Amino acid sequence: MKRDFISIADWPTDELDKIFALAAELKEKQKRGETRPYLGGKTLAMIFEKSSTRTRISFEVGMVQLGGYPLFLDSRSTQLGRGEPIEDTARVMSRYVDGIMIRTFAHENVTEMARWASVPVINGLSDLLHPCQVMADLFTVLEHKKSFRDLTFCWIGDGNNMANSWINAAAAFGFELRLATPKGYEPDAAVLEPARARGARVLLTNDPLEAAHQAHVLNTDVWASMGQEEEQLKRQKAFAGFQINSDTLRVADPECVVLHCLPAHRGEEITAEVLEGPHSLIFDEAENRLHVQKAIMVTLMG
Ligand code: CP
Ligand code: NVA
Repeated sequence: MKRDFISIADWPTDELDKIFALAAELKEKQKRGETRPYLGGKTLAMIFEKSSTRTRISFEVGMVQLGGYPLFLDSRSTQLGRGEPIEDTARVMSRYVDGIMIRTFAHENVTEMARWASVPVINGLSDLLHPCQVMADLFTVLEHKKSFRDLTFCWIGDGNNMANSWINAAAAFGFELRLATPKGYEPDAAVLEPARARGARVLLTNDPLEAAHQAHVLNTDVWASMGQEEEQLKRQKAFAGFQINSDTLRVADPECVVLHCLPAHRGEEITAEVLEGPHSLIFDEAENRLHVQKAIMVTLMG
C-alpha cells in the first residue's frame, strides 16, 4: 500500500529513526560524490500554492541527485488555479508521476490529495503543519547532540505550522517542549490534545524566558506566516518581546543550539547577532532539508 508523509504524527518513532539513519547515509555519500539512482526513472510532481526557496530547491535537487525527475507546478499555471478539483487532479497526476509534493494553504488540501492519489503524497507545508522542516530540524539536532534524550526544546513565537509539527515531534521522541506564545496565538488544540494523549510533554507559557530557561534547543519562526501578510502590523504589536536574542541565550543552557526554518526577519523573531552567532545551526538546518527529504522520498517512492 502507498504511504504518505503528511504529519510526523502518522509515523511510528522507529520508522522516523530509520529516515534519520538513511538521511545520514545519503548525506555522507553525497559529500563523497557517490551517487546511486535510488529513484532512477521516477518522477515527483511538486505543487506550490505558496512561495518557496528551500522546499522547492531541496526537493528538486534531491530528486535529480536520486536519478529522478522533478516537475515544478505553480498552482496558478495549472488548472488547479482555475478551480479543477483536487480529487480530479490527484487521480490524473497519479497516472503520470510516482509521487506528489504539495505546499498549500488549508491542510485539507493535502489530506484530500493523499486520499485521491494512488501515489505517495508529501506535505511540503500547510497552514497546519510543516513536517519535512521539523524532520530536518530534528536531524540537525541529532548531528550536534547525538540523541534527544534529556534535551529540553523551546519554541518562542507563533503557535503556527512549525510549532504544531514540533508538538508532534515531542510526542514521537519524548523530549520536553516548552512553547512561549502571546495570548491568542497558541498552537492548534487539534494537534496539541492528541499529542498530549500520546504522552507529549508540552508546556505552554506566555513568558519567553520561562520557556528558554536552561533549554538546549531554541527555535523560532516569523511572526506572520504566508497567507497572514495583512495581519503583519497587528502581529508586530502582539509579538513584541517574543524574540530569540542575547537575553534568551543568557538563560538557556550554555551549550544551546539555535534553529530557525527561514526565511527570518532579523530584529523581529530573532536578532542578527544570534542568527549569525556561534550557537546558530540555521544554515546546517537549511542544508539538511535536502538530505532528509531525499530519505523521505526514497522511503516512500524507492
Ligand atoms: N523553511 C522553508 O520551508 O523555506 P521555504 O519557504 O523557502 O521553502
Ligand atoms: N510559518 C512559516 C514557515 C515558512 C517556511 C510560514 O508558514 O510561512
